Amino acid sequence: MKIVHTIADIRASVAAARLEGKTIGLVPTMGYFHEGHLSLMRQARKDNDFVVVSLFVNPTQFGANEDLRDYPRDMDRDALMAEEAGVDLIFSPSVEEMYPEGYQTYVAVEEMTKGLCGEFRSVHFRGVATVCLKLFNIVQPDRAYFGRKDYQQLKVVERMVKNLNVPLEIVGMPTVREPDGLAMSSRNTYLSSEERKAALVLSKSLAYAQELLDSGITSGAEIQREVEVFIGPASGGLARIEYVSVVHPETLECLDRIENEAVIALAVRIGKTRLIDNGVIRNA
Ligand code: PAJ
Repeated sequence: MKIVHTIADIRASVAAARLEGKTIGLVPTMGYFHEGHLSLMRQARKDNDFVVVSLFVNPTQFGANEDLRDYPRDMDRDALMAEEAGVDLIFSPSVEEMYPEGYQTYVAVEEMTKGLCGEFRSVHFRGVATVCLKLFNIVQPDRAYFGRKDYQQLKVVERMVKNLNVPLEIVGMPTVREPDGLAMSSRNTYLSSEERKAALVLSKSLAYAQELLDSGITSGAEIQREVEVFIGPASGGLARIEYVSVVHPETLECLDRIENEAVIALAVRIGKTRLIDNGVIRNA
């Protein structure tokens, strides 16, 4: 497995693979790998002849008061894990390489970024869409892999690719969870042991929303309210709710009534750690 740091080097490596007739899979990441990241890499390995992982903690998607400086990093460990997952190449550029002096071009996906996390992280999806389009243009993969764990991100990237006619396929992958249900996240490392227990409230809330729907409650607003009431006691009072929303799986608009299925998405703060989760709930 090779590690390259410049756009010129990654372009040369990918061009060589293309010359051999190889298909290219890209897995964009910010590093500090866990099984969620590895599941994307393994799928990319199955579907493509040449697998590129980008590892870049993208400053433009962090707000001023967010955890850009503290974001966990461990390049040596990441390299070993990626190699084991069958990755051919890691692209790990510097901030200057991606955003040189004079940089001033950004991508805005408009409606879908207003709600959910977009309401609380104003610059976030502009940064995500921009860095993803840059990576797609640099690597020009046949397929790019994203986790459903970050559901709004997946949908925003899909919409950008569709709207801007980017010639690649976006592959969405299931959320990988710890045995007790907590969605894997690089940010889980911030949690104390007491907070780690309280963090189970996220996956429990998804199951609870399905129970409410099973009991005949089909109003999105009512499910939302009930889940909000559930979160306090179920987290031992440790979770502060940012949002709980029941939305249409494609448009991400709040759903008044659930006909067939909906996505319930939530963000809570436990201590200083912000955690998100989501899941599909179905009307039987
Ligand atoms: P990062 O948080 O490192 O996540 C990289 C990819 O792994 C994303 O597609 C994310 O959805 C996926 N992922 C994270 N946890 C997962 C889990 N438990 N199960 C399945 N997939 C999971 O998301 C980003 O980086 C950045 O915003 C990025 C897209 C790289 C743009 O900077």
